[in-house]
Amino acid sequence: MEIKIIGTGSFVPEHAVTNDDLAAIVDTSDEWIRTRTGIRERRISEGEGTSRMAAEAAKRALENAGIKAEELDMILLGTSTPDCCFPSGACEVQAEIGAVNAAAYDLSAACSGFIFALNTAYSFLAAGLYRTILVIGADCLSKIVDWSDRSTCVLFGDGAGAAVVRAEEGDGGRFHMLMGSDGQRGPVLACTSRTVGNFRTGTKPQLGYMTMDGQEVFKFAVKKVPEIIEQVTEEAGVSLEDVRWFILHQANYRISESIAKRLKVSMDRIPMNIESYGNTSAATVPVLLDEMNRQGKLKKGDLLVLAGFGGGLTWGATLFTWQMG
Ligand code: COA
Repeated sequence: MEIKIIGTGSFVPEHAVTNDDLAAIVDTSDEWIRTRTGIRERRISEGEGTSRMAAEAAKRALENAGIKAEELDMILLGTSTPDCCFPSGACEVQAEIGAVNAAAYDLSAACSGFIFALNTAYSFLAAGLYRTILVIGADCLSKIVDWSDRSTCVLFGDGAGAAVVRAEEGDGGRFHMLMGSDGQRGPVLACTSRTVGNFRTGTKPQLGYMTMDGQEVFKFAVKKVPEIIEQVTEEAGVSLEDVRWFILHQANYRISESIAKRLKVSMDRIPMNIESYGNTSAATVPVLLDEMNRQGKLKKGDLLVLAGFGGGLTWGATLFTWQMG
């Protein structure tokens, strides 16, 4: 049994918001944002919700894979900003693309959402339960960002990325994964919207903004990500040198540099696109994967490691052989 990605797609909103645009609404500067994060601009939704963006990315992934939506057995959407409590974003994508044979549901692991969804898809495929799964990471963080809080609003953007994963006869390729969570440290990175409507007291559901202890998240990321990359490569029986690309969650250029330093891996093997999109949460990894696929940078047989971290706290890594091309 061979489990492989057979197509990728992505979508980001048209509307670009530059650092200078943000400096007009909060006390910040292009220089501060660029030097502390590597971000120059981000795409912000002008109405496209998470499901719309996810559906666009999905259509592009299906087209890239050359398959019809009816062939999908499952749709897994990693998101922490669904447009509503239910129906799930995955069900909305299903309706939009016409994937009538798919079971569809969302999975909530914040910025680790795509990696958790990909690993979950792999488990279903490896168990022989399904043949073709659409995995999506999509977030519209602009909906929950406090646009008057300079310590968070400059970091994030909106977007969606998708991959079609299929199980086929064959013996080529590796696939190893790991995931972890630490609920005790949840408050470090949280969104305080609460479904606290109460019949007896008449309390209404509360909307809240994202809150973050930036330095704690930074410290967590630069320690945890190198650890999980070392662990997943060790468990797969390969060395870091065998890995062609480390496709990491795009949270901060300095976080990726620090990870590279700890692993003693050159930044040449850690592609970045944070400059153009900021942190799009669950979308960063699949958007970057799709860009690299479309730019022809991924060669058949390349060993890839995807790794991410985020609210929860959550973290995950996936090591696999690129089989397209
Ligand atoms: N513009 C200008 N100044 C800013 C600012 C902004 N947008 N945001 C914060 N500052 C100020 C702070 O108020 C502070 O001022 P003070 O020294 O007068 O108190 C100063 O800059 C330094 O703040 P600090 O928090 O120490 O900066 P930092 O170097 O740690 O960078 C982050 C802040 C948020 C960029 C960094 O901690 C980070 O990237 N953390 C990880 C966040 C993340 O990735 N979250 C999502 C994970 S999925």
